[in-house]
Amino acid sequence: MSVFALCFQFIETMTSSLQQIMASTGNGLDYDKEPELKTFDDTKAGVKGLVDSGIQSVPKFFVASSEETCNEKSDLRHTHFNVPIIDLRDIDKVGARCEIVKEIGIASSTWGFFQVVNHDIPQDIADEVIESIQRFNEQPNHVKEKIYSRDKMKKVRFNSNFDLYKARFANWRDTLSCLMAPNPPPPEEYPEACREILLKFSKYVTKLGQDLFKLLSEALGLNSNHLTNMGCADGHVFYCHYYPACPEPNLTLGHTKHRDPDFLTILLQNQIGGLQVLHDNHWVNIPPVEGALVVNVGELLQVISNDKFKAAEHRVLANCAGPRLSVACFFTTHFEPSEKLFSPIEELLSDDSPPLYRGTTVKAYIDFFASAGLPAYSSLTRLRL
Ligand code: OGA
Ligand code: NI
Repeated sequence: MSVFALCFQFIETMTSSLQQIMASTGNGLDYDKEPELKTFDDTKAGVKGLVDSGIQSVPKFFVASSEETCNEKSDLRHTHFNVPIIDLRDIDKVGARCEIVKEIGIASSTWGFFQVVNHDIPQDIADEVIESIQRFNEQPNHVKEKIYSRDKMKKVRFNSNFDLYKARFANWRDTLSCLMAPNPPPPEEYPEACREILLKFSKYVTKLGQDLFKLLSEALGLNSNHLTNMGCADGHVFYCHYYPACPEPNLTLGHTKHRDPDFLTILLQNQIGGLQVLHDNHWVNIPPVEGALVVNVGELLQVISNDKFKAAEHRVLANCAGPRLSVACFFTTHFEPSEKLFSPIEELLSDDSPPLYRGTTVKAYIDFFASAGLPAYSSLTRLRL
């Protein structure tokens, strides 16, 4: 290992430890927030429970540093920046497909984000998914609390803030997580409020995911089936988020900045807005577009594409309007015990383009991600050669 690499590794280790200490001491707010977190967690009612109780201010453990919430990186002069919107209508026509592949390649290597329209998921299905997640969250607490859990092995679980005890500050958000494939739980384990429609949506999302992995393979100059043959589309999990209206939206966030620790994410959002991507050092809004789905490159796709595609940092602002609802479909297989290693794709390597990452299993990757609270030290940096 070169002296440079050794120095880099040292700095990396120090940064990681410092970040963990920062995380455990809670945002420089020097008070022991653990009892408050536990009281909140024990209600099993999430952020929605707080709002329903009539609170008019944000409890201290949700308060983020101004650095975290500020918009200083967003610059009004750059509002002409827009995440690309890609029309998939003519995906099966040769000439049009070429153009779509080109657009997806550019979007994935520059933004790491794009929106797709005419994607074959019917609008009434998408609307019903959003309605069912709202229904799930707005039913009496005694129904939801039965599946409230922090057990990562559970294929279906509801909680508020997966990283509640590790994060520097809590987010204004509750989440229902449902493993859909492979090896889903018996259907009765999904909440009744959204069972049927999530199963239906999962079928559509599987097909769209396969189509997107084909387009992404082609954009990398590979055989259409390369990414699916590697197993990128073998599994997916739904993270169904509920962001209640927030009384002091400038003090906290709906979702701390992060990159997704999966291959690819397809996201359905309702019309409230608040999702932002960091692009050229500016926070750029990803506005809800009727009929569109947001697609973003995950860190594992960045690894196997050897940085040809970028997993971009993104976050969700809190909002005085609400609730905001979203369903993030993560293409990942971290529930599977597989030892299969994912490393940069051979065909993309050359003397000019040496491998930039060590291989990792999907499970090891997500375990590292989950071991730190958000904003996490990038798991990508850890694998960097
Ligand atoms: C996520 C995510 C954004 C949203 O689940 O990783 O970034 O709009 N969600 O809910
Ligand atoms: Ni995300």
